[in-house]
Amino acid sequence: MDTLRREVLSERVRLVKPSGIRRFFDIINTMPEVISLGIGEPDFVTPEHISQAGIRSIQQGHTHYTSNYGTLELRQEIAAMLLHRYGLTYDPKTEILVTVGVSEGVDLDIAAAITPRTKMILLGNPNNPTGAVVPRDQLEGIAQLAIEHDLIVAIDEVYSRLVYDTEHASIAAMPGMRERTILLDGFSKAYAMTGWRVGYVAAPAYILEAMLKIHQYTIMCASSSAQEAALEALRHGEDDVKIMHEAYARRRRMFVDGLNRIGLTCCEPRGAFYAFPSIAQTNLTDDEFTEKLLFEEKVAVVPGSAFGAAGAGHVRCSYCTAYDKLEEALVRMERFLKKHR
Ligand SMILES: Cc1ncc(COP(=O)(O)O)c(C=O)c1O
Repeated sequence: MDTLRREVLSERVRLVKPSGIRRFFDIINTMPEVISLGIGEPDFVTPEHISQAGIRSIQQGHTHYTSNYGTLELRQEIAAMLLHRYGLTYDPKTEILVTVGVSEGVDLDIAAAITPRTKMILLGNPNNPTGAVVPRDQLEGIAQLAIEHDLIVAIDEVYSRLVYDTEHASIAAMPGMRERTILLDGFSKAYAMTGWRVGYVAAPAYILEAMLKIHQYTIMCASSSAQEAALEALRHGEDDVKIMHEAYARRRRMFVDGLNRIGLTCCEPRGAFYAFPSIAQTNLTDDEFTEKLLFEEKVAVVPGSAFGAAGAGHVRCSYCTAYDKLEEALVRMERFLKKHR
């Protein structure tokens, strides 16, 4: 079997490590008593009118491929929204591509923009796993650096609607940046639409054209019903975004204060729905902490090192779960810390 596996599978793929986060999900799914702070998706279901738009689209027989770029209607709506939010003008015919979630957009960036001399800054703002939001003056610094060194900037803004007590600024809207920025955003987080798999890329035509080539050969187009649901989200989903944002903001205040109170010191996360406390006050590695917390107290978090070596010594706690569950998680974590201090 091992020899067969070796012959059939590419060496490169075999050596890819499974996601540290997935490993925990698989365990958690067998433990119903667990409070999961591991998952990075809204606990809300997609707002009813958005789901209905998707259902209607299927019932009306809109079950065919769309343009590789995505439906023109959706692209026009995205362009109008980007103009409204950032004052940015994109041509919906050549500068916007509807993708299968932001995840697909990130892959296309990377694939389309790599040359032997590739230099690119890839930035997630707001950030997963830390919840940090890059302040405007720092973004301006990064923009200046990109211009000075003639770099492309790919910016993943999937959490752009989820910022608290601060503003979200897009680097694409800074002077001289539109022509060198690949802006990635989507519907998963703001509209609780993770399972619909729809996002978009806005970029200058010369970059988008290269991305489209890869997209059309690998994906063809995003799901047609998901695109119609996304259109409804953009046109009539603003109140839903606000309601969910309020719930996250309330949970964030209570949970982050709670973490700091029990001794898991945590910088103020101003975006997304994650807190990223240090576990320095225990003598455990982040892997040990996560495993023991799961089996001893039935609380699931994600080890910081699952996001790279710089995350070691921290754990990611998602607060997109019910308020009372977050309160109970803090009680359990406090008990755990007393044991492992
Ligand atoms: C920074 C970041 N980008 C992209 C994604 C995935 O977004 P989508 O569901 O639109 O593919 C996630 C999901 O957790 C994320 O944290």
